[in-house]
Amino acid sequence: MTAPLIAGNWKMNGLGKDLAEARAVADSLAETPARARVAICPPATLLARMAEALAGSAVALGGQDCHAEPSGAFTGDISAEMLADAGARLVIVGHSERRAGHGETDAMVAAKASAATRAGLEPIVCVGETRAQRDAGQALEVICRQVAGSIPAGMAEGSFALAYEPIWAIGAGSTPTSDEIVAAHAALREALVECAGSAGRTAPILYGGSVKPDNAAEILKLAEVGGALVGGASLRAADFLAIIRA
Ligand code: PGA
Repeated sequence: MTAPLIAGNWKMNGLGKDLAEARAVADSLAETPARARVAICPPATLLARMAEALAGSAVALGGQDCHAEPSGAFTGDISAEMLADAGARLVIVGHSERRAGHGETDAMVAAKASAATRAGLEPIVCVGETRAQRDAGQALEVICRQVAGSIPAGMAEGSFALAYEPIWAIGAGSTPTSDEIVAAHAALREALVECAGSAGRTAPILYGGSVKPDNAAEILKLAEVGGALVGGASLRAADFLAIIRA
């Protein structure tokens, strides 16, 4: 079994003083190594400083988004190559906050995932349904359609991860039931194999949405849950470490 991936998504949080939290995670892992692969995705302004702070540690650095093009006249955007140059090894693409707040479509997300691969980064491609879609019984159909549209053709084995993030569970303090998570991950696995062949069989499927120290162990032991994408609880070393150790 491959090691689960626990990735922290700091979103638009974190100043220079918060590098101490990332350093505390790295120090703890140096003392007692984790079974999981660990990554932190800070805001772009902290990437270079965090790369320095985490140099030689077991914590990988990730971006939160990238542009599909390697460079050009795209004010305010950051390319996958720039993330790699700043020390990142992964990048989140298609987070629901990008899809909703920045109008990102499946096709745009697929282009970003391709860009990540081009730059040597491991994309974490996010999908997830709204509360209304779940209530209407459309959750599985919606997320499988997002996978088909957001995973580019030709992904290689071991090169990407998928994250199931029900939008209504993000920052909400409540999660789907274990049965709902298992059903979603099983459907996503099928969809992944359909669109990515053997690469889709091995790509980890992370769960994201209100993962906390007190529910992490329960969620991480579920079938086809290959890790977690953690927002709020990744900001403090103590909470994030408790999830990593789960
Ligand atoms: P949350 O966010 O853990 O704060 O719910 C997860 C995410 O949006 O990646």
